[in-house]
Amino acid sequence: MDTPVTIQSVLKEKRVFKPDPGFVRQANLRPTEYRRWHKEAERNFEQFWARRAKEHTDWFTPWKKVLDWRLPFAKWFVGGKTNISYNCLDRHLEGPNSWRRNKAAIIWEGEPGDQRVLTYADLHREVCKFANVLRSHGVKKGDRVAIYMPMIPELAIAMLACTRIGAIHSIVFGGFSAEALRDRILDAKTVCVVTADGGWRRGQIVQLKKAVDQAVEGDSPVKSVIVVRRTENEISMTEGRDHWWHDVMHDASTHCPPAKLDSEHPLFILYTSGTTGKPKGILHTTGGYLVHTTVTSKYIFDLKEDDTFWCTADIGWVTGHSYVVYGILANGATSVMYEGAPNWPDVDRFWQIVDKYGVTIFYTAPTAIRTFMKWGDEHVKKHSLSSLRLLGTVGEPINPEAWIWYNRVIGKGRCPIVDTWWQTETGGILITPLPGSVHTKPGSATRTFPGIFAEVVNDQGEPVPPDQGGYLVLTRPWPGMLRGIWGDNERYRQEYWSRFRGVYFTGDGARCDKNGYFWLMGRVDDVMNVAGHRLSTMEIESALVSHPVVAEAAVVGRPDDIKGTAVAAFVSLERETKASEELRHELRGHVVKEIGAVARPDDLRFAEALPKTRSGKIMRRLLRDIAAGETSVGDTTTLEDYSVLARLRESEEA
Ligand code: WTA
Repeated sequence: MDTPVTIQSVLKEKRVFKPDPGFVRQANLRPTEYRRWHKEAERNFEQFWARRAKEHTDWFTPWKKVLDWRLPFAKWFVGGKTNISYNCLDRHLEGPNSWRRNKAAIIWEGEPGDQRVLTYADLHREVCKFANVLRSHGVKKGDRVAIYMPMIPELAIAMLACTRIGAIHSIVFGGFSAEALRDRILDAKTVCVVTADGGWRRGQIVQLKKAVDQAVEGDSPVKSVIVVRRTENEISMTEGRDHWWHDVMHDASTHCPPAKLDSEHPLFILYTSGTTGKPKGILHTTGGYLVHTTVTSKYIFDLKEDDTFWCTADIGWVTGHSYVVYGILANGATSVMYEGAPNWPDVDRFWQIVDKYGVTIFYTAPTAIRTFMKWGDEHVKKHSLSSLRLLGTVGEPINPEAWIWYNRVIGKGRCPIVDTWWQTETGGILITPLPGSVHTKPGSATRTFPGIFAEVVNDQGEPVPPDQGGYLVLTRPWPGMLRGIWGDNERYRQEYWSRFRGVYFTGDGARCDKNGYFWLMGRVDDVMNVAGHRLSTMEIESALVSHPVVAEAAVVGRPDDIKGTAVAAFVSLERETKASEELRHELRGHVVKEIGAVARPDDLRFAEALPKTRSGKIMRRLLRDIAAGETSVGDTTTLEDYSVLARLRESEEA
């Protein structure tokens, strides 16, 4: 990791927004209670979480011990037995909340404009049926199931069906390539893949089944592939292995009692980018994740029975797992799901959906907000948006300008904004305003959620004084935390617990102001946040060097007004190869094939050689400066070959 020793924070934002008294009066967590929660958690954070778990989640067998913490391995609610699909479905059909039976669980809109509403009873029935289908295809408790689907209700049904029988799902975002899917299938040894013929994206069909065919070709642990008919494009079905969803669901029984699962039973694996070329399978388990996502959903999004909640994230990312499906359904709330792009058929699609369904809570990414800003206010103003009452953001730091625009143009100055900081690894939100209790400052994710403990430290791991930049660490375990990296405990230790003694290293830079507000400053490791998608520089580098003509590659992030960070690649070629526009195009396409369109380099520059230190390390800091077009390139005294630098600058893309 080549990080500057001191992280300088340059953002100075003074504006403060107080929650509206009307909002405070109706809030799920009011200021006095919020303060009490923080005190309670500081006194005894285990007891704090245990209380919340008792209030908000249902268990077949109570736990014996709240937390078993053997650094860096945590077990939460030890000895307890529960089931997430039970908490998301069955408990809304029976007992005091049985009236929710016919309440909308999922309101779905397809990109072409088709729609479906699944009530809690509908969803329960479909989940039970699909759980039986999985079983009849030999999927057992603990088996891994890959899900590679468009944003259609069957995706949520498949996940919940896995949790019902204790199978572990591994959802792979539909924008990833066949190669990326193959790697993930092999790493987790998934026995079954659930997919669709295709999905709609900007009027085009994303050929999902075709990618699955490539991914499971040859030697593969996959025994069965279940295919939803969505786009009705022609696909090939392999006899004995591939089955249509509608065929296998046809006669499936609607009776499937939820498995009574140990609190620490694995729930899902979600691959994310780390600091090496190989994505890591983040492992989450049942009880702690359920408690964390349920409680944070209820209080941070102030969920009420009559809310219509829309999180625009794809379920292929952690945000979709936790806040399209699990946390929202566990509260018996209504979750909106949209299949397609925000600019199809027009750039006001999101606002049209908000008005159409009366969305009350809207949760999206800063990169989307900046895009809407660029498209222009007039597209927003065509719609009333009067149903909205609360807004949220996630995925990257939000610049104050975008925050203010979101507040003014989308929220009409009347909706609180919750800027929520968290990670795939954390399972749920950790740093966030509570909308009825916390004054917000544009650009700050504000304070830790009660029961969460964070600090900003220097290189030596010592806490830094207020307003000084440093590394964000988490000093105590929390219920939704990752339990490890699938099949690689050593890497788990190494990546999160070795940088600073005894604490979890987030990989983010931050400063904390004198009011205890956190200001996130982006990644300080080799991970980039590109348009809200998490990518690793190393992963893209290994994709590039896997091309026969590439000798070496270095990838860095550079600032971008819309995407936050854009991908800049520097490539040196094998001796006989000549750089050309065609080759540039081919190499960018090669990255798309290896990883997916999300990783396509924005800039690709050819260089005779890459700048290295005398010890052979690529000077990324220097490349970052060059990529950003900065004239001063900092300290180059350790540079191996000065002429490389001059040639790199000349190579700038026309
Ligand atoms: C960044 C997404 C600033 C951060 C849930 C983190 C944020 C990474 C925020 C995790 C925020 C997420 N403010 N930065 N509100 N939320 N991040 O795993 O760098 O896709 O480490 O999880 O996104 O990305 P991931």
